[in-house]
Amino acid sequence: MSELRLPAVIVNFKAYAEVEGAGALRLAEACQEVAEQTGVSIVVCPPATSLGEISRVATIPVYAQHVDARRPGAATGRLTPELIRATGAKGSLINHSEHRLLLADIGAVVTMCRENDLTTVVCTDTSATSAGAASLGPDFIAVEPPELIGGNISVTDAQPEVVEHTVKAVQRIDENVRVLCGAGIKTGRDVKRAVELGADGVLLASGVVKAKEPTKALADLVQYL
Ligand code: G3P
Repeated sequence: MSELRLPAVIVNFKAYAEVEGAGALRLAEACQEVAEQTGVSIVVCPPATSLGEISRVATIPVYAQHVDARRPGAATGRLTPELIRATGAKGSLINHSEHRLLLADIGAVVTMCRENDLTTVVCTDTSATSAGAASLGPDFIAVEPPELIGGNISVTDAQPEVVEHTVKAVQRIDENVRVLCGAGIKTGRDVKRAVELGADGVLLASGVVKAKEPTKALADLVQYL
């Protein structure tokens, strides 16, 4: 994988109306501005339709939101690791709570991404599933309790034990796999707490994508890193 400085903040644009059309590039530019001003490692995950456009101009890493365990060929509508690599993107989320995969496909796609030099971030929901996913050898596990996603209560306040237990469970399986956490993260204090709980960074979305002023919101989020 291409090296990512830690702690890292990954901003998932999802499919919010704010990132339709030119919105995705505008948001990526805002994230890049904060990365340059603060020196914090920030990654953007635009929708697949904007991956090429943003990868061509961004100096911060660009990851896909999803990748399929499919080889190049007759695979209509699928996103192969090769297609993602060819956009210039450097990695992908895998098995996001809003786009779950079969366990066998997670294992296969982690391997296929590695063959394509793409960084892998496998999303999970508990420390137990995180341990299982860690055994597949991804670069990152991102643990996110689904019921907290998109809300205003941070995983670090509502379920700090999920983060702590995940860090321990993953380390027991493979100490090279790094752990991120996400769901409801909205403030710099939430991000600071995530790192105190042992995470190597955070995966977040609505706190930046839906903010009135995304640059300000992201600058607040990274202020203690
Ligand atoms: O991919 C990040 C995510 O699922 C968390 O979303 O809106 O709770 O930050 P959000």
